[in-house]
Amino acid sequence: MSTVDIESVLKEKRVFKPSLEFSKSARIKSMKEYKTLYQQAAKNPEKFWGGLAKELDWFTPWKKVLQWKEPFAKWFVGGKINASYNCLDRHLNTWRKNKAAIIWEGEPGDSRTLTYQDLHREVCKFSNVLKSLGIKKGDRVAIYMPMIPELAIAMLGCARIGATHSIIFGGFSSEALKDRILDAEAKLVVTADGGFRKGAIVPLKENVDQALKSTPCVEKVIVCQRTKSPVQMVAGRDLHWTELMAKASDVCPAEKLDSEHPLFILYTSGTTGKPKGVVHSTGGYLLGAYITSKWVFDLKDEDTYWCTADIGWVTGHSYIVYGPLANGATSVMFEGAPTYPQPDRLWEIIDKYKVNIFYTAPTAIRSLIKSGDEWPLKHDLSSLRLLGTVGEPINPEAWIWYHTVIGKKRCPIVDTWWQTETGAILITPLPGAIPAKPGSATLPFPGIIADVVDKEGKPVKPDQGGYLVIKKPWPSMMRTIYKDPERFKKQYWTQYQGMYFTGDGARKDKDGYFWVMGRVDDVINVAGHRLGTMEIESALVSHPGVAEASVVGRPDDLKGTAIVAFVTLKTKTSRSDELKNELRQHVVKEIGALARPDEIRFTENLPKTRSGKIMRRLLRDIAAHHQTIGDTSTLEDISILAKLREDEE
Ligand code: WTA
Repeated sequence: MSTVDIESVLKEKRVFKPSLEFSKSARIKSMKEYKTLYQQAAKNPEKFWGGLAKELDWFTPWKKVLQWKEPFAKWFVGGKINASYNCLDRHLNTWRKNKAAIIWEGEPGDSRTLTYQDLHREVCKFSNVLKSLGIKKGDRVAIYMPMIPELAIAMLGCARIGATHSIIFGGFSSEALKDRILDAEAKLVVTADGGFRKGAIVPLKENVDQALKSTPCVEKVIVCQRTKSPVQMVAGRDLHWTELMAKASDVCPAEKLDSEHPLFILYTSGTTGKPKGVVHSTGGYLLGAYITSKWVFDLKDEDTYWCTADIGWVTGHSYIVYGPLANGATSVMFEGAPTYPQPDRLWEIIDKYKVNIFYTAPTAIRSLIKSGDEWPLKHDLSSLRLLGTVGEPINPEAWIWYHTVIGKKRCPIVDTWWQTETGAILITPLPGAIPAKPGSATLPFPGIIADVVDKEGKPVKPDQGGYLVIKKPWPSMMRTIYKDPERFKKQYWTQYQGMYFTGDGARKDKDGYFWVMGRVDDVINVAGHRLGTMEIESALVSHPGVAEASVVGRPDDLKGTAIVAFVTLKTKTSRSDELKNELRQHVVKEIGALARPDEIRFTENLPKTRSGKIMRRLLRDIAAHHQTIGDTSTLEDISILAKLREDEE
């Protein structure tokens, strides 16, 4: 984040209290109630979490709430549970059995509603399909699908039999898909013929075919039909979803799984080139997703709730599927993009389904602001009662627009801070209790001990910047990096003893409100998607013409961060605009369109310290066109700076 942003956030003094009317019927009704909960939880976290966990259905109760051998946690030790059972079966003996579980809207405007009973039936059938293909508890299943109900069915079908799912966002390329399939050693891939994206078709099956050329672990592929585009089916390997489902029985009892059984792996970018397989548990994860959905979104049975994320990201896992369904809520699922075919698509859907709770990302909000107020004004948004954001800091002006134009000054906004690693929301307003300040994620959820510390791990004074850390384990925390516990330890638990290192910079104001500034490591947040700069660098360097590359983020009004790549070429390669385009394409091929550099700058040399480390800080300043740059005393060759600036012209 640039200093300008930090200053604007520092100047923000506005406070928005929830209305009395909202608070009166909210799950958590006042600051006093929040504080009591917070203190109870801080005093006896095991009692607090243990009490809440009783709201889930357990086959066998746990013996011990927490077993903590830093950095490895076990929650609800000895307890047996199933996430699919908690999201489906437990609602079937209630009036909810015919309630809409998922209301789905396709990009072309088609729609489907699945009741809890419908979803249960489909999930049981899919579990039986998995079993018939030899998938057993503990096996990994890769899912690479568009946002169609079958994606949720596949997830819950895996969860039901204890197969660990690894969902790969449909925007990733075949290369990225291959790496993730190989790392997880997936036996099965579930995909679709293609997916719709702004009127075009994403060739998912083709990407799978490409990836599977070098993934010996994969035995079978299930192909769901969505776009009806022709695909090649490999005999003996590829099977049609509908044919398998037609033969499958709809009776499949949920497996009684250990609370710590790995529910899913989700790959996320880190500071090295290799994505991390973040492993989440069953019992602890589900509790986090469940209770935050209930308290943060103030979920009630009569609500229609909509989170616009893609299930390929953690937000979709926790807040389209597991959290809302464990609450018996009605969750809207949307296949398309916010501005297609027109910039009022989201507002149209809110109007169509009378959405009450709406959760989206600042990057979407910013692009919708740009489209103009006439689009939301065309629709009746009066059903809305609560708004949320996630993924990156929201600039106060966007917050105010969201509050005024969308929420008509009536709806509280929950700015929720969390990460793939945390599994569930950790810092957030509870909407009926905690007054909001635009740009601040406000206060920690009860049971979460968060702080801002300096380099030595000492808490900093109010309004001083530092590193955001979490000082106590929590149920939905990641358990490890798949097959790499050492990396897990090193990445998150070695900076400070006894604290989880988030990688985010933040400050706490005098009211204890957290203001998250963004990443302090080499991870950037582009349009709400997390990317490791190293990953993009490795992709660039894998091009035969490139000698060295350094990638940094530059603040961008729309995407939050734009990707700028400084590239030095091999001596035989010459600079050209064609080469720039080729390099952009190369990154798309290696990672996916989401990582395409916005700007490529050729340079003779990169600024390095005497020990050979690239000084990204300087590159960031140059990329952002800052006139003055920070300390350059450790720079090996000061003349490089002038050259880099010249290269700019
Ligand atoms: C950033 C997404 C400010 C942060 C759920 C974090 C935020 C990273 C917020 C995780 C927020 C997320 N305010 N920054 N409300 N929410 N972030 O793993 O930098 O895709 O570390 O998880 O997004 O991104 P991830």
